[in-house]
Amino acid sequence: MAIDQNVLKRAAAAKAVEYVNDGMKLGLGTGSTAEIFLELLAARVRGGLNVIGTATSERTAEKARTLGIPLASLDELAPLDLTIDGADESDRKLTLIKGAGGALLREKIVAASSRRMLVIADKSKLVGKLGRFPLPVEVLEFGQRTTVARIGEALAALGYHNPSIKLRGRDGLTFISDSGNLIYDCALGAIKSPPKLAAVLAAIPGVVEHGLFIGIATTLIVARPRGVEVIEAAK
Ligand code: A5P
Repeated sequence: MAIDQNVLKRAAAAKAVEYVNDGMKLGLGTGSTAEIFLELLAARVRGGLNVIGTATSERTAEKARTLGIPLASLDELAPLDLTIDGADESDRKLTLIKGAGGALLREKIVAASSRRMLVIADKSKLVGKLGRFPLPVEVLEFGQRTTVARIGEALAALGYHNPSIKLRGRDGLTFISDSGNLIYDCALGAIKSPPKLAAVLAAIPGVVEHGLFIGIATTLIVARPRGVEVIEAAK
């Protein structure tokens, strides 16, 4: 019988809890896998573990508060010892696509302020080449159509022809990020050079952040039915 994806997420989260030591300052990720991690962390906090976290989203902050995990702002805690977060895709170099949960901006700020970033994922997230998952790009509402036109031109210049660039929303309601911005999901197919794409997107005025995380994750914990694999980033 196929192992339930939630069982794999829980296995990855359980492994990540082993990396948490007393006194650590933690970055707390967003998404279903990160939330399982919060539940397991909370059990250790109830058992006397002394940690403090900063949340990468309002959703995570609320969950952490409910679970009794102490929180403070990033500015009070930085630099952090460890951030634990999920991902939408990772390759074996630990380049990630993140942002399906809409928290990519704060996730990147928090992870970049941490000595280590652990990514926890079930096996479906590990890919040979990034890009099956649409790349989220967070855009300022001001001049959004102009910004999106620039994104389209920049993508075409990189050889991504006619990619779908879709404003995120549901049931007629536009998704607004915790920082008040919009998200455009760019379906690119296989991403040839993540660093080149990241540099081009970051240079467009009005692009607040994109979901490519390059050189930020230090460890990937990937759960498969036969066990958990830990992949370290090359130094
Ligand atoms: C949140 O914005 C994302 O970057 C999440 O980390 C990502 O979507 C993973 O979520 P799941 O663990 O729910 O797949």
